[in-house]
Amino acid sequence: MEIIKTVVIGAGTMGNGITHVMAQSGFSVTMVDVSREALDRGMGIINKNLARMVSKEKITENSKNETLGRITTATDLDEAVKDADLVVEAVNENFELKEKIFRQLDLNAPAGCILASNTSSISITKLGAVTGRAGRVIGMHFFNPVPVMKLVEVVRGLDTLDEVNDAVVEMSKKLGKEPVPVNDYPGFVSNRVLMPMINEAIFCVHEGVGTPENIDNVMKLGMAHPMGPLRLADFIGLDVCLDILNVLYEGFRDPKYRPCPLLVKMVDAGKLGDKTGQGFYTTA
Ligand code: 3HC
Repeated sequence: MEIIKTVVIGAGTMGNGITHVMAQSGFSVTMVDVSREALDRGMGIINKNLARMVSKEKITENSKNETLGRITTATDLDEAVKDADLVVEAVNENFELKEKIFRQLDLNAPAGCILASNTSSISITKLGAVTGRAGRVIGMHFFNPVPVMKLVEVVRGLDTLDEVNDAVVEMSKKLGKEPVPVNDYPGFVSNRVLMPMINEAIFCVHEGVGTPENIDNVMKLGMAHPMGPLRLADFIGLDVCLDILNVLYEGFRDPKYRPCPLLVKMVDAGKLGDKTGQGFYTTA
């Protein structure tokens, strides 16, 4: 199946990054959010990232303008998806919110439209089950910063059709990404492997094994990670890390995934990392 018209739901970090990449790859894309302010903020970030690419001579001013010209914004989701071939939902990691959106998408998007979620850990099978088209529901998990990171984790729910998997793999390649297909289990592969490492690093702070700087330096200098796990946790958002660990803990009922009490305490205190300026590091 050919994907021409795409819609991204959510203008936050992931949503504006996915919109940027789709438009830059030649797709016409509508970015949807509940408020004009959120859309303006998202467009501002896309603009800034494209301008940086122009200043580094990675793209021309003309190609920046062409990319921007392929993006429209909307607050009316029902109207935006009525002729879409692919919708990528990238709203907050909240099952009730995603469930509501998937029901709405099922009612308003054409029958053949693929409904993808950028969820980092919510079950694709469960999202598929709230629609009447579970075969056309799939995970398309991008990584932050979306314009830079090569991976798209393509997550198959229990009922996802082969043709839908193949179309999303093809689409990801057209976006210049490297798709890796995986099956739907809590945390998929990426967060099932990443989050226990981050959690263990937080336990190291909690137990006084080392300072955040020293723990990060061990992983950066010894294992060639571009960011240490605590810097990365701040970058991802400590609330997001906690949500994902809870999905792993509840999904497998295995104590190895229990979130570190320090992580819980920091989230309770509103220290969420870069987005609040305070986490393991102070950024604002
Ligand atoms: N948009 C576009 N380009 C960006 C960008 C953004 N938001 N952020 C950085 N870049 C570009 C820069 O312009 C620069 O481009 P250049 O190589 O052409 O000069 C390049 O990326 C490197 O950026 P910087 O020089 O500013 O900084 P660094 O070299 O320190 O790299 C980083 C920054 C790419 C973020 C790097 O530190 C990194 O790879 N960190 C790990 C990120 C990671 O693990 N992400 C996954 C998080 S998990 C996730 O998203 C999944 C979820 O489910 C939790």
